Amino acid sequence: MKHLTRAEAGKRMEALRNEIRRHDYLYYVKDRPEISDAEYDRLFRELSDLEAAYPDLVTPDSPTQRVGAPPLAELTKVQHERPMLSLDSVADPEEVRAFDKRVRRELSLETVHYTVEPKYDGLSVELVYDKGGFVRGATRGDGTTGEDVTINLRTLRSLPLQLQAGHSQASQLPSHLVVRGEVYMRLEDFQSLNRRITERGEEAFANPRNAASGSLRQLDSRITAERPLALTCYEIMAQSGSPPPTHWDELDSLERWGLPIPLQRRRCESIDEVMSFHAEIESLRERLPFEIDGVVVKLNRREWQQALGEKSRSPRWAIAYKFTPRKEITQVQDIVVSVGRTGTLTPLALLKPVEVGGVTISRATLHNADEVARKDVRVGDTVKVERAGDVIPAIAERVPVEGERRAEPFRMPDRCPVCGSAVAREGAYYYCTGQAACPAQIKGALEHFASKSALNIEGLGRKTIAQLVERGLVRDLADLYTLTKDQILTLDGFADRSASLLMAAIEASKQVSLERFLIGLGIRQVGQHIAGVLARQFGTLQAVMAADRETFERVHEIGPEIASSLESFFKEDHNRRVIERLLRHGLSIEASATAERLPQPLERKTFVFTGALERFSREEAKRGVERLGGRVTSSVSKETDYVVAGKDAGSKLEEARRLGIRVLSEAEFSALLEQL
Ligand code: IVH
Repeated sequence: MKHLTRAEAGKRMEALRNEIRRHDYLYYVKDRPEISDAEYDRLFRELSDLEAAYPDLVTPDSPTQRVGAPPLAELTKVQHERPMLSLDSVADPEEVRAFDKRVRRELSLETVHYTVEPKYDGLSVELVYDKGGFVRGATRGDGTTGEDVTINLRTLRSLPLQLQAGHSQASQLPSHLVVRGEVYMRLEDFQSLNRRITERGEEAFANPRNAASGSLRQLDSRITAERPLALTCYEIMAQSGSPPPTHWDELDSLERWGLPIPLQRRRCESIDEVMSFHAEIESLRERLPFEIDGVVVKLNRREWQQALGEKSRSPRWAIAYKFTPRKEITQVQDIVVSVGRTGTLTPLALLKPVEVGGVTISRATLHNADEVARKDVRVGDTVKVERAGDVIPAIAERVPVEGERRAEPFRMPDRCPVCGSAVAREGAYYYCTGQAACPAQIKGALEHFASKSALNIEGLGRKTIAQLVERGLVRDLADLYTLTKDQILTLDGFADRSASLLMAAIEASKQVSLERFLIGLGIRQVGQHIAGVLARQFGTLQAVMAADRETFERVHEIGPEIASSLESFFKEDHNRRVIERLLRHGLSIEASATAERLPQPLERKTFVFTGALERFSREEAKRGVERLGGRVTSSVSKETDYVVAGKDAGSKLEEARRLGIRVLSEAEFSALLEQL
């Protein structure tokens, strides 16, 4: 740690907070980052380090403080400052014209203008800012009372904890501001979240809206923080001082204050322009990275809005003009099972082809066996299919048909449909035990090993791998390093130069970081993040391979499921043999990201905290240890190196004394962290 005086540290912390805030804004709101992820991480780490050294200088609006509150017992109810109205929706162009007619008649105006924007498919939230600081956020609930989700909303990176003050008179920050917006999930994020949770055997979310709502309404904000939620804001519900005169200006103000607003919007001078905006956005819909289900047509001038007023649940000055729905009904013709890279068996429904929002759908994923049982989908059933983006759609629900005679419930096969090996079960998912003998797995494993985030072997793509496996040239990962140029030249599409390039790429991949190597092994549940954690904690492949389930579980962020997956992978003889052969063929594994690594003076040291700490929260203390490479566990054993005893320490302290473990006072612990 560099030596700064307290005052210097305070100054530097403020500068870092502003800098990080600006980059959050550029990245999450403007989608226009100016610095690399690594640079961002460096700034963030510098700030967290300073905050750990000066805990009393941490401000609540610091970017590090987005998570931190302990889990709640329940979400408390809050009354909205103004009722959160909903919108009347129409799908028929004639109804839109009728709306325009009514509006002009009631206002006795020849022409009016509208602001039109996409209708985001998420859940509506109320955000309250006092003196520019985010103080409260709530779900819509019944429109009058919602749930307090302030701490969960704080984890959204696109939500400014502190608003930016505008420069002009018009954009001055109101001291009190209530904003309405929509929390949603991008399609790509939704799909990877579903993949993650079904791998754990949990129920997949039916659509991005449910995923957003389920993620925001968590009792534990750390779970929300892991969920990729996005935000857009579209209304000032209340503010001190006079609000902007038009809806268009309202959006401008929100934008200037640093809040994310709808990406598309148009000021329309006539209802015909509204119609064409609707058509344009509908055709754009397929290419948008998130779900929208229509456009919202809002009368632009506030005075017109006020003149028309509202009904009990919806304004009379705005409507939702919906798109044609993307849910369709069809029949399940068959349920088949596909085998993935890690051998996981995934049931797929083959559907009677049906057009959903302009795309013909003939397959839908059923995620896993539990999901099939939960939805009770059987061959021959009538189902509703829903499409989210351009990936394989999902079955939303079964539609019971009166008098239907149903087939037997679906059962997972006992044998792998690709190689015939036995199928084993682990929680909700089933997998083929064939591993090296299963072509589906070998090809998948090789593709993954060669991929960008793993060994990054350029020129070794899916087609080449398929040929290598089908011709018997490669049966496992290690075989890649026995390939000769002559063998490569026998493959379709290779000439002298391309074969040399591939040989060179394979040779170059022999120098690999531990993190990438671990990713490349394709261990179930071990992706980039966990591979990074393992590499940092264990340092060498030998140490990872020597660890058992308990040792893995002691690592922060590694839960029982990942620990058991790691243990069974490294226990398996076949896997160990492949790793040995890889090393024999000259693979050289460097300790992970050496350049980025902080000094790890507490490497392999285990700490236990007991009693009440005064200067640190438990979480801060834990982070302090982990940053220096140490581990924190909850119980004292022979493996424990230090016990930090706060006030009123009890049985753990006694146990430490009994085992002769070094006991530190809080002050000693704090001094230890500072020295290192
Ligand atoms: S305006 C009084 N604008 O649609 C104004 N709503 O069916 C009421 N929504 O509950 C809302 N995008 O959750 C408005 N650009 C947008 C919107 C939007 C999505 C949602 C909102 C509301 C529902 C109404």
